[in-house]
Amino acid sequence: MSVFLFLCYNTLGDENMKIIDGKKISEKVLEEVKTDIEKFKLKKITPTLAIILVGNDTASKVYVKNKTIACQKVGVDCQEYFLDQNTSEEELINLIDKLNKDDLVHGILLQSPVPKHINIDNVFEKINPLKDVDGFNPINYGKLLIGKENLTSCTSLGIVRLLEEENIEIRGKNVVIIGRSNIVSKPLSLCMLNRDATITICHSKTVDLKEHTKTADILISAVGKPAFVTSDMVKDGAVVIDVGINRLKDGTLCGDVDFEKVKNKCSYITKVPGGVGPMTVAYLMKNVVKAINLQL
Ligand code: GUN
Repeated sequence: MSVFLFLCYNTLGDENMKIIDGKKISEKVLEEVKTDIEKFKLKKITPTLAIILVGNDTASKVYVKNKTIACQKVGVDCQEYFLDQNTSEEELINLIDKLNKDDLVHGILLQSPVPKHINIDNVFEKINPLKDVDGFNPINYGKLLIGKENLTSCTSLGIVRLLEEENIEIRGKNVVIIGRSNIVSKPLSLCMLNRDATITICHSKTVDLKEHTKTADILISAVGKPAFVTSDMVKDGAVVIDVGINRLKDGTLCGDVDFEKVKNKCSYITKVPGGVGPMTVAYLMKNVVKAINLQL
């Protein structure tokens, strides 16, 4: 009998849960961008994005590759700068200065992380705010903080779009974010606040993490640890968004969420791969369009 009830519970859980298909939604976004890019090309503008990668981080190389593939898909010219691990902060800033001055370059992206001897915040500060397609320059960060979003973090905008596409309301919801990085969690929390969510940011020093995560209508994990979010941390019917991208020893990719167990508890969930990742790339392309419009 108890086995029967268990199976019923699990089946019911599955029926009520929907996997948010980030890959499919990202393709829709890329189609929108393609239309915008064609209009620029009629005006003899060749949208151009410069991507800089310093060092040999294997994961970063894959992310940059995905960004260049998206550029090709939508018709953005991509200039790639692969700089040596020993590149100095000054050399990197000199390249940024050159790209800032180049009117043919509309967007500049410095892939994070950079080697330890470089202070990435110093470099983000040097990117022309109008070309700052990641939204990490303090001017764009500040605008986000006061609710005047313009060039804003691609992952944050991608997640907002995923929720919008599924008609999941953000206003008034308890959004709990695990992680406090400048790259993902902080801009994301501001994006959610700007859309009238009540936000909680949890991190490694949070006392009783589960007590917080259980209150989440929308639970977002950006930790970078496989199976970090377990089903006992999730409220029944919550929306679970997995920003983590982790590579296991056997080479497979997974997120932060123990997907197979958590999926039975929530109303919506994203997968890794095929969830937030493609949306980050698609919104980078959207930001290239935005940057061009700002520079016209
Ligand atoms: N590293 C991981 N995610 C990102 C991102 O969205 N932008 C940049 N520049 N680096 C990253």
